[in-house]
Amino acid sequence: MITMNDIIREGHPTLRKIAEKVDFPLSEDIKQLANELLQFLINSQDPEIAEEYELRAGVGIAAPQVNVSSQLLAVYLSSADEESDEPEFSRIMINPRIVSHSVQQTCLPDGEGCLSVDREIEGFVPRHKRITVEYVDLDGEKHKERLRGLPAIVVQHEIDHLNGVMFYDRIDPENPLALPDGIDVLGSGE
Ligand code: NI
Repeated sequence: MITMNDIIREGHPTLRKIAEKVDFPLSEDIKQLANELLQFLINSQDPEIAEEYELRAGVGIAAPQVNVSSQLLAVYLSSADEESDEPEFSRIMINPRIVSHSVQQTCLPDGEGCLSVDREIEGFVPRHKRITVEYVDLDGEKHKERLRGLPAIVVQHEIDHLNGVMFYDRIDPENPLALPDGIDVLGSGE
């Protein structure tokens, strides 16, 4: 199982590389890694497992963060409804690509964090409010999906990892807490 010891931190050169496209048919190694990345997120959100293994809670992770420079990511957002066992949004995306996006931008009210960054970084991270993403799943099926809200933001953060981009690259260094013109903050007034 993946633990925090497997996750590389900022400063590691792999986090600044462009990840390689994944070849099909998928190798057993890639399939196993994909499942382990998703399982890490699920474990990290389980209070007992997270405490036992000292996992930081995460909602997304990309293969470069475990030092595998491949275009593979996992996202796991649990349901806001505590009665529900079904996740709100759970995906493994291989070779994901944003094919179109809204002009309108959004951001999280408290900025972003990252499993590869062990410090708090203040500042708004502008993201596209809506994206259309194409990707291939573990069964080799192609998908084209329109996302908005938190899933859209998390997928953009993880796709950034496949391109060697860290979330803080997108914060205005002059004025991290100034909201860019025309941006709306997720969770306010929708
Ligand atoms: Ni990250």
